[in-house]
Amino acid sequence: MLERIRRLKGDALRDLEALDSSEALERWRIKYLGKKSELNLILRGISELPPEERPAVGQEANRAKMDLKAAYEVKAEALKREELERALQEERIDVTLPGRPVPLGRLHLSTQTLREIYRIFAEMGFQIVETPEVETDFYNFELLNMPPDHPARDMWDTFYIDEQILLRSHTSPGQIRVMRRYCPEPIRVILPGKCYRYEQVTARSEFMFHQVEGLAVGKHVTMADLKGVLIEFCHQMFGKERKVRFRCSYFPFTEPSVEVDIDCILCGGRGCRVCKYTGWLEIMGAGMVHPQVLRNGGYDPQIFSGFAFGMGVERPAMLKYRIEDIRYFFSNDLRFLEQF
Ligand code: FA5
Repeated sequence: MLERIRRLKGDALRDLEALDSSEALERWRIKYLGKKSELNLILRGISELPPEERPAVGQEANRAKMDLKAAYEVKAEALKREELERALQEERIDVTLPGRPVPLGRLHLSTQTLREIYRIFAEMGFQIVETPEVETDFYNFELLNMPPDHPARDMWDTFYIDEQILLRSHTSPGQIRVMRRYCPEPIRVILPGKCYRYEQVTARSEFMFHQVEGLAVGKHVTMADLKGVLIEFCHQMFGKERKVRFRCSYFPFTEPSVEVDIDCILCGGRGCRVCKYTGWLEIMGAGMVHPQVLRNGGYDPQIFSGFAFGMGVERPAMLKYRIEDIRYFFSNDLRFLEQF
């Protein structure tokens, strides 16, 4: 019996030595140390042996069991380490490889242009005020000197929500809102935002676009102030070398009214397709606030005067970046948007 135990132990240790995986180790454990293992059967059968053999067999079998258990622990530890090393080798990360680029968003060209306009006017002391995009007919037209039958209303084909509510067709209604809010304080603000017009979409015209309105009201505001501010703006926005021209025009809410042109950025005033061979590009409408509009805002036109201007955002950006079609702005084509 003792011989059998020794042989068994020898076989077990040899098998253990040859093992190379956790699965094989588990099979080994069941075979040599499990409940139904030969060694366990020997231990359980001791009571059936002749009494004089029992101590020696018991001792030998228990020692064999303890030795096998200890060998098992050592092998398990070694296998664990080996497997970990193998996994580390296989899953090794090459930290010197270039990373995958994270796609970064950017500001829309209209937002970038708006921010440039804000910066220029902020330097001249203008505050930015937001006014509603959904307006009433009253503010969008009537308080700006355009009663329902006024022919100038034809200038703005409008999206109506119902008889009285509409999507603003320009930022000028904001003038009245600001005047009513700040009266009788002096005012120097710009009012940026989206405008909507029910018109044919073409390379130059969108049904939704941005405008920036400007308004200054005070006791001694003159046309010279208007010219000074707008010339400075044009120089900062389009370059110091630009010529600026004020041309007579008409808006119902300003008197006198002007349109502001710069000499063509593309041909330098010689005449080209973009400036329609005139040498000039129209940038904005402007004028001295009409006395009736001042009154509608709560200011006494005998004491106060003011100037106002309104410019698009996309059209100046088109000139600056030589974009041929306004429809690129809001058609969300990344090939366009990523260029700015
Ligand atoms: C106005 O909207 C006046 N409210 C401007 C004004 C304000 C005059 C204060 C006097 C005092 P106008 O319709 O010209 O004016 O529009 C002003 C600018 O908005 C245009 O020069 C143009 O740059 C832009 N704009 C007008 N319609 C469109 C359109 N469909 N698509 C893109 N930009 C447009």
